[in-house]
Amino acid sequence: MKIMVVGGGGREHAIIKKLKENKNVEVIFALPGNGGIAADATCVPVKATDIEGIVEFAKANAIDYAVVAPDDPLVLGAVDALNAIGIPCFGPEAKAAIIEGSKVFSKDLMKKYGIPTAQYEVFTDMDAALSYLEDAPIPTVIKADGLALGKGVIIAQTRDEAKKAVVSMMRDKAFGKSGDRIVIEEFLTGPEVSVLSFTDGKTVVPMISSMDHKRAGDNDTGLNTGGMGTIAPNPYYTDAVASECMEKIFLPTINAMNAEGRTFKGCLYFGLMITPHGPKVIEYNCRFGDPETQVVLPLLESDLLEIMMATTNGTLAETEVKFADKNACCVIMASGGYPTSYKKGFEITLPAEVAENVYVAGAEIADGKLVTSGGRVLGVTAVAPTLKDAIDASYGMVEKISFEGGFFRHDIGARAMAAKEA
Ligand code: AMP
Ligand code: GLY
Repeated sequence: MKIMVVGGGGREHAIIKKLKENKNVEVIFALPGNGGIAADATCVPVKATDIEGIVEFAKANAIDYAVVAPDDPLVLGAVDALNAIGIPCFGPEAKAAIIEGSKVFSKDLMKKYGIPTAQYEVFTDMDAALSYLEDAPIPTVIKADGLALGKGVIIAQTRDEAKKAVVSMMRDKAFGKSGDRIVIEEFLTGPEVSVLSFTDGKTVVPMISSMDHKRAGDNDTGLNTGGMGTIAPNPYYTDAVASECMEKIFLPTINAMNAEGRTFKGCLYFGLMITPHGPKVIEYNCRFGDPETQVVLPLLESDLLEIMMATTNGTLAETEVKFADKNACCVIMASGGYPTSYKKGFEITLPAEVAENVYVAGAEIADGKLVTSGGRVLGVTAVAPTLKDAIDASYGMVEKISFEGGFFRHDIGARAMAAKEA
C-alpha cells in the first residue's frame, strides 16, 4: 500500500514509525515531513495547509490511504477534498473538525448535551466582554474562538490582565480573525489528563492516558509551549475516572456530534481536568496530540494502520486496540529561546544507538547534516516496565544528544511520580 501522511512534526514521525510496522505498507510519503522523518519516509515539499497541492500529489501517486495529522488541514477540509477524489483518509471532515476549530462550537455543544466543562460566556463585542469582566470571578480564562497555534488561551490572574487579554484579542487582533469571538470561562483546578481516542463515529476506543508538560521551565514555570514532554499512562486517570469519562464525556460527545450531523471519525483528543467535582473537558482536539503521540503510540501493541482503516470503514468495534502494560516518557529537546525567538541551523549530534527512540520535530538536512530548524527539535522516548525506569532511560538518552543552545526540562514525569507515591 502507498500511504501519505500530512504533517511534519514529532507526532507525524511517531505515526510514520508505527505505520511502517504493517507489512503491507510499501511506501510512506510525508507532506512535508522533516529532516528526521526523511530516514523513515519519502518527504515531499508540499505544505500541510496546501490542500490543492496535497490532493494533486495524492492523485498523481495513486495513494491508497492518507493520514491527515495536524489541525489546520483538517479544519480546512483536507479529508473532504481527498475523499472527493476517492482517497480514504484517517481524520475528520471539516464539519466535524470544528470541534477543535471553534471553541464557541465546542462549548455550546457541551452545554447543549450536558457534557461537563467550565462555565462560560461568549462575546462578539469587546465592550460587552470588558463590562462582564468588572464582576467576573478571578482568576478567569480568556480563549480566542479559532485556531491560534495553541496560544489562544490566557489564564488571567487579575482583572487587569483579563481586560488586557480581551483587548489584545478583540481590538489588536493578536490571533487575527480567531479573536473575533471569544470565550470567557471559569478557572478550573486539578490535574490534567490527555486522552486520545480512536472513533469511527459509533464506537469510541480510548488510548492509554498521558500527561503533557506545557510550560517551558522546570516545576511548571515560564511560558506556555507546544509541550515539553509527556508520560503515559497518567496516574491521575484511575479506572474509576476512566469509566466516569466514558459514561459522561466520551460517549456523549460522539453521540452529540452524530446528532448534530457532524459524525466524527479519526482521533478525538479529550483534554481533561480532574476537578474536585469530577472530570471536565478543558478542550477537544480533532487529531493526535503532540507530544502525547510520542508516548502513546510506542505503547500500542496492535496494528496502527488496521485501526486507522477501521475508523474509516466503521469496523472499529471488531478491531483489536491493545496497549502494553508498560510506561513511556518523552523528553522534548528545544532550541534555546523557545517558545519566543530562537536561532536555527545548529548541527545535531545524534548517536545511532539512540536515533531509533527519537522523534524529530524541527530539523532539516543541510549539506548532508541534520541541523535544527524549529523551536521544538527532538522528542526522546523510552518505554520501560516502570515509570521511573522510563524517565531515567529517556534522560539517559538525552545526555547523549546535543546541539548548540539546546535545552530541556529536567522534571518530566516528576509530578506523575509524586502522584504514584502519594
Ligand atoms: P487549551 O489550549 O484549551 O488546551 O488551554 C491551554 C491550557 O490552559 C490547558 O492545558 C490548561 O492548562 C489551561 N486551561 C484552559 N482552560 C482552563 C480552565 N477553564 N481552567 C483552568 N485552566 C485552563
Ligand atoms: N499537547 C497538546 C496538543 O497537542 O494540543
